[in-house]
Amino acid sequence: MEKVSYQHMDEMTEEDTRLIMQDAAEEASELADRVLAAVLELKNFQGPLLVTRYEHSMQSATRAYRDGQSEEYIVGALVHDIGDHLAPFSHGEYVAAVLKPYVNERVCWIIKHHPLFQAYYYAHHLGGDRNARDAYRDHEWYQDCVDFCERFDQNCFEVGYDSLPLEFFEPMVRRVFSEPRYAADGMSILTDAVSSAG
Ligand SMILES: [Fe+2]
Ligand SMILES: [Fe+2]
Repeated sequence: MEKVSYQHMDEMTEEDTRLIMQDAAEEASELADRVLAAVLELKNFQGPLLVTRYEHSMQSATRAYRDGQSEEYIVGALVHDIGDHLAPFSHGEYVAAVLKPYVNERVCWIIKHHPLFQAYYYAHHLGGDRNARDAYRDHEWYQDCVDFCERFDQNCFEVGYDSLPLEFFEPMVRRVFSEPRYAADGMSILTDAVSSAG
C-alpha cells in the first residue's frame, strides 16, 4: 500500500491528506460490519442476568420496531449498550459518540442519557436518588428518554421473548451507517472529504 511521507503531522502534504482520506473512506465503508460485530460481541456478556446483553439488545430493537419507531431509533435501540464493557461508567456517551454522525439529534440524546434515566429502576436500592434524571425535566427530550427506558430497555431482560434475529436488523444498520448525515459542527470538513473519497 502506498504510504504517507510524514512522521510528524506538521509535515503533512496534500497528497498525504488524500491518501489518508481514501483510507478513512474505506474504513467508513466497513463501519456497519464493525457495529454488527460489536452487537454480536455482547453474547459474551451475561453475568448474573437471565439473558445475555446481546439478547437484551435484540429485545430492545424488536420492541422498538414493533412499536413503529423510526429506523434510526431502532438502530439506536439495537446498539444502545455496545460500549458497556469498555465504558462501564459512561456507556451512554460512548454509544452516542458512535451514533452521532448517523442518527438524528433526538435519538442520539436519548441514547447518551439512557444510563442516568435507567438508574430510576435501581438507584434507590443503592441509597441514591432514583429521580436524578429530573435534572433534565425541562429538556425537550426528557419524556422521550423516560419512554425509551420504560418501553425498550428496563423491560428487555425477558427469558423467551420472541426477538427478531440480528439479520432482520442488518439492512437497517447498513442504511443508517452508510453516510454521516449528522456530522458535528466543525467536523463536516472531514465527513465531506471522506464521503467524496469513497
Ligand atoms: Fe445501557
Ligand atoms: Fe440496556
